[in-house]
Amino acid sequence: MQPIAWQISLVLMALVAFGFAFVAINSGRRQEDYSPLQKSAYRLRSRLFWGLVLVFGPAMIYTLFELPYDAARANTGAGPVQVVDATGYQWRWELSQDQFAVGQPVEFRVTSADVNHGFGIYDANLHLVAQTQAMPGYTNTLRHTFSEEGTYRILCMEYCGLAHHNMLTEIRVGAQ
Ligand code: CUA
Repeated sequence: MQPIAWQISLVLMALVAFGFAFVAINSGRRQEDYSPLQKSAYRLRSRLFWGLVLVFGPAMIYTLFELPYDAARANTGAGPVQVVDATGYQWRWELSQDQFAVGQPVEFRVTSADVNHGFGIYDANLHLVAQTQAMPGYTNTLRHTFSEEGTYRILCMEYCGLAHHNMLTEIRVGAQ
């Protein structure tokens, strides 16, 4: 925790403890007329409510300006989207295309012909760059723009039977 953060939390805890002590000490007193106190508390509450609405309402609207997020991201690359069909089988991948251009968005349409598989794209250092599930009877869309040339590997990320570890293929990303 930051030094400032624990100081603030210490102060807050002290305030809470003070509040408890105040209630405990005053609980012995006999009943008084609380209605003026109640009225001002209600007034404070509605002021707080509208204050929060004024602060968070515009902030919330501001965060929505970049919608739709997906389309904005897809436009970062040059040229049209390269669409690839990717199907998982026990125990191999079948791609309609395995050569891609760097900087150009690729849309993988991932499905499975049998059981659930995990579609994971790894770079040359075996760092995961993108992933989705390959599910029978359903197509998951995965968009990725390769920013570096090279050979990438597609590995299965979900245990799918005896030869799960052999379920891999390679794709090439080259200059446009
Ligand atoms: Cu397919 Cu594990």
